[in-house]
Amino acid sequence: MTSRFSEQDTESFYDAEDALYRSFWDREGSLHWGWFDETTGGDFLSACVNLNRVMLEKADIQPLSQVLDLGCGNGNTSIWLSRNTGCHVTGIDLSGVRINNAIESALALPGDVQPRLRFEKASATELPFGDGEFSHVWSQATLYHVHEREKALHEAYRVLAPGGCMVFDDLIKPRPDISDDARSYVYDRLLFDTDYSYAGYQDALGKVGFEVLEAYDLSDHLGKSYTCLGEMAAAHHEENPEVYGGLANAYGQMVKAVEQQELGWALYVCRK
Ligand SMILES: C[S@@+](CC[C@H](N)C(=O)[O-])C[C@H]1O[C@@H](n2cnc3c(N)ncnc32)[C@H](O)[C@@H]1O
Repeated sequence: MTSRFSEQDTESFYDAEDALYRSFWDREGSLHWGWFDETTGGDFLSACVNLNRVMLEKADIQPLSQVLDLGCGNGNTSIWLSRNTGCHVTGIDLSGVRINNAIESALALPGDVQPRLRFEKASATELPFGDGEFSHVWSQATLYHVHEREKALHEAYRVLAPGGCMVFDDLIKPRPDISDDARSYVYDRLLFDTDYSYAGYQDALGKVGFEVLEAYDLSDHLGKSYTCLGEMAAAHHEENPEVYGGLANAYGQMVKAVEQQELGWALYVCRK
């Protein structure tokens, strides 16, 4: 499927909105959803770090791993990964603003971590790397934006070494018929559309050549994430009722879309 939205729309959106999202989502600049469990309780940011931990464990990233973080945003998870494992991480993102933030954050790190991190402005659809350069491809909350998603999956496959691991989460569309509310508050607002259901995504990965080792339907966690985010946005209502009220309302619609199975979220662990 070719999206109605262009890479330029996505780039402009993410270049412009960094300060807004830092004001209520995560002041450190990370921008993904959370995996809630008994260690996180209902705390959203703990659940976001927990997602990192779960993905790291499933991908078995080691000190000698060479990781590509697709859609690294402000570089938070790339830095977290390298600091926690000693691995090398290359982060790419469409947004020049976010890549510059990532570079600045890396420069502020201790000297032993800096050389293990590299950030470049690039698209997931055209990776500026040779075949088989990475042991792992990692991605969080990004691929739904990529309007040529198959091309991005082929690129991820190409840059992975044989036997390499791709671990990523992405939004899914549990059913094809969606309401006008879900269309405008969810799909149009996030500048995306997709043909992939939970199972359909696995078929697509198989066609690219991946072996899907593990798959998790995390839709309930997406609903919980947006319940928390709605409350976090609403807490800023008085500062700017139009902006934060609008976000709180949109996040309520996200929760509704998840409940009505018009939107879902999944995690896949694949081997080349
Ligand atoms: C929701 S943010 C997630 C950022 C980061 N992974 C995190 O967890 O904080 C989505 C990111 O995907 C990036 N992005 C969207 N389309 C892209 C593409 N075609 N290639 C690379 N990055 C892209 C955006 O610029 C944005 O930084």
